[in-house]
Amino acid sequence: MSNLDWHAVSAENTRSLRNVFGTFMTGVTVVTAWDADGIPRGFTANSFTSVSLSPALVLVCIAKTAGSLPVFSEAPRFAINILGDWQRETSNAFAGRSANKFEGVELLASEPAAPCLADSLSVLCCARHSLVEAGDHVILIGEVLRYRSSVGSPLGYFRGSYVDFAEGARAIQVERGSALKVGCLIAHDSGLVMVREPGCEHWSIPEVFWRAGVSQKAVIEEVFRRVGMDGDVSFIYSMFAEEGDDFARLVFRGDARDGVAAPLSRSLEVRVFHAHEQPWRLVKGEYTVSMIHRFFTEREADAFGIYCDTADGGRIAGIAGQPVHWLDWKHQAQ
Ligand SMILES: Cc1cc2nc3c(=O)[nH]c(=O)nc-3n(C[C@H](O)[C@H](O)[C@H](O)COP(=O)(O)O)c2cc1C
Repeated sequence: MSNLDWHAVSAENTRSLRNVFGTFMTGVTVVTAWDADGIPRGFTANSFTSVSLSPALVLVCIAKTAGSLPVFSEAPRFAINILGDWQRETSNAFAGRSANKFEGVELLASEPAAPCLADSLSVLCCARHSLVEAGDHVILIGEVLRYRSSVGSPLGYFRGSYVDFAEGARAIQVERGSALKVGCLIAHDSGLVMVREPGCEHWSIPEVFWRAGVSQKAVIEEVFRRVGMDGDVSFIYSMFAEEGDDFARLVFRGDARDGVAAPLSRSLEVRVFHAHEQPWRLVKGEYTVSMIHRFFTEREADAFGIYCDTADGGRIAGIAGQPVHWLDWKHQAQ
C-alpha cells in the first residue's frame, strides 16, 4: 500500500484495514475470569487501554465470536494480566480455543477474585463496570480494585508479530537519564555465563537498565531471569563507564544455582565460556575486556577484588575470604 493513497473502507475487504490497525504497536494482555462453575477462562487481547485514573478504569474489547464472551459478560470480577517479553508462549496459548489453556499455568493464590497469571509483568484485578456494544466487539470496562507489578520488559505486538521491546526500552532509559546498567558475572561451574543479542557480533555479560524505584534485589533477579537461571550475587565487582556509552555500569559477581534454562528472550543466545576460549576477546569495550580477563585470572587464584574507575586509571580492592551471610555476620559482630 502506498502511503499517498486513500482507501475507502469496504465491508468485503477488512484485511487491509486490519493491517493498518496493526501498525499501532501495543502490548499484550491475557484477560481472565472464573466462570459460573469456578473454571478459569481467559483470552489474549491487545485491545487493552487504560481509560481513567479517578475512578480507575480500563477497557478491553472482546470479539462477539469469542467463546468466552458470555463468561466475561457475566463475571463480576476479571483480571488483566499484562505480559512480559518472556510470555510469548502464554500469549499464543490464550489466543487459541483450547479448553485447557490454564494447564501448567501458575495462578496467584493471593488473589481469589480472578485467576491471575503469576508470571505476568503486571496484573490489574477489576470489577465489571459496564459493557458497551461496539460493532463486532463488546467493550468491557472494568474498575481496577487492586494491582501488582514486577520488573522486566513488556511483550510488544506490531503488524501481527511480537516485538522485542528491550532495545526500545534501553533508548527510553537513556533518554530519561536513568542511565545505570546493572550486570552480573555469573559463574557457572568453572565458566562464565555470557549472552549475545540477535544480529550482534559481540558477546556480553547479562545486564539490564536499573530503573528508578526498582530495588537492587529485583534488578538482580531480572538479570538472572534474562538468562533463565536462578542464582545469587556475592559482591559488587566493578564500576565503570565505557567511552562513548551514555550509561555507567555496575557489575556484580554471582553464581548460578542450576543449569542453563530457557533464556528470557528466545532470540538471545546464552552460553557458558571457559578460560581456554579467552572470552574476553569476544566482548566490546576496553573496561569490559579487562573485567572479564580479571574474572578468569582471579578465579584461577580464588582471590577476588573490586574495581573502581579513578582519575589515575582505576583501583582494585582485594577481598579476603568468602562472603558471609548478613545474619551470620551480625551474629559474630554482637
Ligand atoms: C496478540 C493478540 C491479540 C489479540 N487481541 C484480541 C482482542 O483484543 N480481543 C479479542 O476478542 N480477541 C483478541 N485476540 C484473539 C483471541 O485471543 C482469540 O480469538 C481467542 O481464541 C479467544 O479465546 P476464546 O474463544 O476462548 O474466548 C488476540 C489474539 C492475539 C494473538
